[in-house]
Amino acid sequence: MSNLKTTLSSSLGKKIVMSLTGLFLCTFLIVHLIGNLQLFKDDNGLAFNAYAYTMTHFTPIKIVSYLLYASIIVHAMYALILTSMNKKARPVGYAQQNGNANSPWTSRNMGILGTILLIFIVIHMNNFWAQYHWADLPYAKYEVSLTDPADVKFTSIPFDGSKIAHTDYVDIEHGVKVLIAKDLYLIVGELFKQWWYVLLYVVSMVALAFHLFHGFRSAFQTLGWDHKKYVSAIRFIGEWGFGLLIPIAFAAMPLYFFFFK
Ligand code: HEM
Repeated sequence: MSNLKTTLSSSLGKKIVMSLTGLFLCTFLIVHLIGNLQLFKDDNGLAFNAYAYTMTHFTPIKIVSYLLYASIIVHAMYALILTSMNKKARPVGYAQQNGNANSPWTSRNMGILGTILLIFIVIHMNNFWAQYHWADLPYAKYEVSLTDPADVKFTSIPFDGSKIAHTDYVDIEHGVKVLIAKDLYLIVGELFKQWWYVLLYVVSMVALAFHLFHGFRSAFQTLGWDHKKYVSAIRFIGEWGFGLLIPIAFAAMPLYFFFFK
């Protein structure tokens, strides 16, 4: 136990924790992206609202969510502590000493990129996560034909002060599967119709791209998981997957709603 305490209080220990939490956050991003791709379906939000409900009400996913919130906090806190420890140990900036020559721009600016992302996550969770959990949102009712799943009747139910429960049942008599869910799709659509909000998302996704372009590979290096057999695969996934494809896919969502919905 005391060994663990000593390791965690050392700067290498903190870097290891940052790498592990960072890689966990990367895994979350893949799952989050796949779920959010439902937004591109032209189904009045049926798939997206069903996904949002599962993500927030299925106990194992709820447990992983708490781990996720803790990871975000620990990752940000350790980044702050390490930066101030480095500053104290090296009062003349590393970049100044080295004339910026040896370290790439992304690695020198991980702190500022991470800060932009932290601000983004706070705004993002306030607008989506907190709204979904605590606000009185309108509900969406979907009646999906049992014989033809493409035949869906959609009704918006405005919030009228009474608590509507999420329901998901089969109505044999009318030959339909009924889903009533909080209409988070509506909130996403409304927010992504505002140009400044779209801009905030696109700028944040640029920061995400640079942060992960360096961070993904760097985490493997810190953990010593960069054996030369795998280093080119790690580099490829980090640069093309996390540094390009994932941020572009996330940025495409607000742009799609703004220009095409
Ligand atoms: C741009 C496209 C994005 C959309 C449309 C989107 C949408 C949403 C929605 C609707 C929620 C609340 C429902 C839920 O908890 O599943 C949510 C939660 C969340 N989002 Fe996003 N998101 C996007 C990008 C991102 C990015 C890039 C990050 C991280 C850098 C992120 C981090 C989070 C976190 C941490 C939560 C809370 C998750 C949980 O409670 O388990 N999101 N997002």
